[in-house]
Amino acid sequence: MLITIEGIDGSGKSTLLSRLRELLAGLDPLFTREPGATWVGDSVRRAVAERMDPITEALLFCADHAAHVDTVIRPALDEGKLVISDRYADSRFAYQPVVLDGVLPDPLLWLRRIHEGWSIRPDRTFLLVLPIKDAVSRLDPEKKREYFENAGILARVQENYLDLAATDPARFVVVDALLQKEEVARFIADEIRTNVRSSRPRPRA
Ligand code: TYD
Repeated sequence: MLITIEGIDGSGKSTLLSRLRELLAGLDPLFTREPGATWVGDSVRRAVAERMDPITEALLFCADHAAHVDTVIRPALDEGKLVISDRYADSRFAYQPVVLDGVLPDPLLWLRRIHEGWSIRPDRTFLLVLPIKDAVSRLDPEKKREYFENAGILARVQENYLDLAATDPARFVVVDALLQKEEVARFIADEIRTNVRSSRPRPRA
């Protein structure tokens, strides 16, 4: 089973993920993330830091995803493991259209086509949503200024996320990230447990 966690910068994903590690330890999940820990992931981070052109950046994020699916996600799912990914394809579908706006006629369609035929669809996606001002105030103070200037971008990214959720309500669970962190973590952990239970074939009576 593949679970993904999505949300804008400052939505509290990192705290959530570390708490899920504790709460779900009994299920022995594989925790992973995008951009990944390989040299492909490093090249993505470098492209973002050096502000490469948006097509190069988008394709590098897609390449990182391909490597992630091939080396981490697919092998783990084949073994029947529970996989929980901090960011996944929806990060592309939410973030890249903002930077590709005006560069391509239909960025989302272009991105979806690139993923077609090889990417693996998550079984469930938890989307953390909160007011932009709260997300900005949660960001690392050292990076705050830079991100603050990008509050407008984060607002558009979150709009894109909400559109994705609206078009796929069976997969997305939208979570209010302003709730107590412990409450958010316990709710998501319970949902994941329920999903895992219902996906397992029941023993014959
Ligand atoms: P990262 O440094 O891992 O930050 P976070 O802790 O918020 O996940 O992510 C790098 C940035 O890259 C983050 O602002 C989200 C963005 N991103 C994309 O624009 N497209 C993508 O496909 C992915 C995976 C991330």
